[in-house]
Amino acid sequence: MSDSTNSELGSSGVPESTMKRLEGRKALVTGASRGIGREIAIAFAREGADVVINYRSSDEDAEVLARTVEDLGDRAWVYSADVSDIDQVGEMKRSVEKYMGPIDILVNNAGINRDTLFSKMDEEAWKEVFSVNMNGVFNCTKTFLDHLEESDHSRIINITSIVGQIGNIGQANYAASKAGIIGFTKSLAKELARKNINVNAISPGFIETDMLSGVPDKVREKIVAQIPMRRFGRPEEVAKSVVFLASNDADYITGHVLNVNGGMYL
Ligand code: NAI
Repeated sequence: MSDSTNSELGSSGVPESTMKRLEGRKALVTGASRGIGREIAIAFAREGADVVINYRSSDEDAEVLARTVEDLGDRAWVYSADVSDIDQVGEMKRSVEKYMGPIDILVNNAGINRDTLFSKMDEEAWKEVFSVNMNGVFNCTKTFLDHLEESDHSRIINITSIVGQIGNIGQANYAASKAGIIGFTKSLAKELARKNINVNAISPGFIETDMLSGVPDKVREKIVAQIPMRRFGRPEEVAKSVVFLASNDADYITGHVLNVNGGMYL
């Protein structure tokens, strides 16, 4: 066998082209223009999935990501919609149907934080976080549910947070919204299991993205000291876990909260 033939084989001897875990799947990733969502979109494309890239405002970042997905040989559809607005999500669905067809993987990733001590937290900071982090999950799941019901291997993957599990000073709004996502995930997992829709959550610890960039150095040092692995996570490490839950390897897993946190919460 020549070297060139060998290089096309994976470690198991199976041709690389047949080893992609999400071949033929269509995924919608919300908040995908940067950070964790961007890495999920790329990881999905590497595994052969077509990807709908939802974002709110960063047109250029979303377009660049679409080219990356296409360079990997998959289709990309870019759509700007505020997930907190169910009408915009409905418009996105019509556009997705027209250009891509029904999705079978939904990743509710879009999220925001408006951190401040509860004594200083106004109603706006509370409502804003809930409108994106919780209502956004409701809006997208409700709107795309009929797509997911069409396929016999559908997935809903919700991105929650370690903060929703252990709480955090200055994040009562964010922590409450992320804890809500866990209850939603478990309830929906029970409701939708009969329809072959697996519903799981990924709970990242502290991950190097824009969300963390505003944290002062001293606070960052204190956080790292609490992480047994002594480092922040990388967005691509979260994305790999999302691929696992989206793949057939996770066929019998539903209602699970998968911690990706370097051992910070067990
Ligand atoms: P990021 O701030 O880098 O990216 C968030 C993405 O969501 C952006 O693309 C943004 O445009 C989008 N987005 C925000 N509001 C939106 C809306 N109304 N409609 C549509 N898109 C919207 O954040 P990061 O770090 O990538 O976070 C992704 C998810 O992971 C979020 O749900 C976040 O809560 C969660 N997470 C992040 C952690 C971290 O340490 N970075 C830790 C645990 C969870």
